[in-house]
Amino acid sequence: MKTAVLILAAGKGKRMQSDIPKQFMSVEGKPLFLYSVEKFLPLVDRTVLVTGEEDTGTCVKILSEYGLSGRVDVIAGGKERYDSSMRGLLYLEETGGCDTVLIHDAARACISEEVILRVIRQAEEEKTAVAAVPVKDTVKIAGPDKTVLDTPDRSTLFAVQTPQGFAFGSLLSAYRKFYESPFAGITDDASVMERCSDIPVKLCEGSYDNIKVTTPEDILFVQNYFKGEKQ
Ligand code: CTP
Ligand code: MG
Repeated sequence: MKTAVLILAAGKGKRMQSDIPKQFMSVEGKPLFLYSVEKFLPLVDRTVLVTGEEDTGTCVKILSEYGLSGRVDVIAGGKERYDSSMRGLLYLEETGGCDTVLIHDAARACISEEVILRVIRQAEEEKTAVAAVPVKDTVKIAGPDKTVLDTPDRSTLFAVQTPQGFAFGSLLSAYRKFYESPFAGITDDASVMERCSDIPVKLCEGSYDNIKVTTPEDILFVQNYFKGEKQ
């Protein structure tokens, strides 16, 4: 079974409000996206970094500084996250494809080998594997004026993460259907699979450490996480 990972790093990081996109922010002296790249490299057959059109050259340079030239393909992503995923899937198809594809947010630098292997194993066996953790907070659905409309049963709620792993052909077909009649509110790849394929999407155990660096306080968490790992 051939496994590829698409590491998505083509976002603008608006909620981080920093000068440079969050995936390039330095954590313990290393650009954030490299933590994911280095974690996946020994566990998969192909690693593709999807980044901003204007950042591909910089990424190639950084990868070479870390001795990773030739081990990671760098391609340009698109406007929305789903455009970046689609570009990555089409690139994989053009260059020989794979059996299982994992898609991972470069912003989730604290991804562990354990979660990656769990997602790979389940995706190979069951065609889908979405890293997720049970939500700790009570979740409410509210209207625009903040009036609470409903409180879903917490035991049925999960916070979804990446990596998300899928049978490659099935995910690419689902994405093609999605582009034929797109719909709004797509923030992960599983949603495309849920709406545009008949294959049931299954969760798989993620980790509470596997946060998505999104707002400034998240950087402190990641700095602490990697300080601890070094000791
Ligand atoms: N991403 C991408 N292409 C896009 C948008 C997002 O590859 N057009 C990537 C981001 O780089 C990130 C991951 O998808 O690693 C998750 O997205 P998110 O956390 O929303 O990152 P940003 O879109 O960069 O941040 P924001 O929404 O705050 O602008
Ligand atoms: Mg975004």
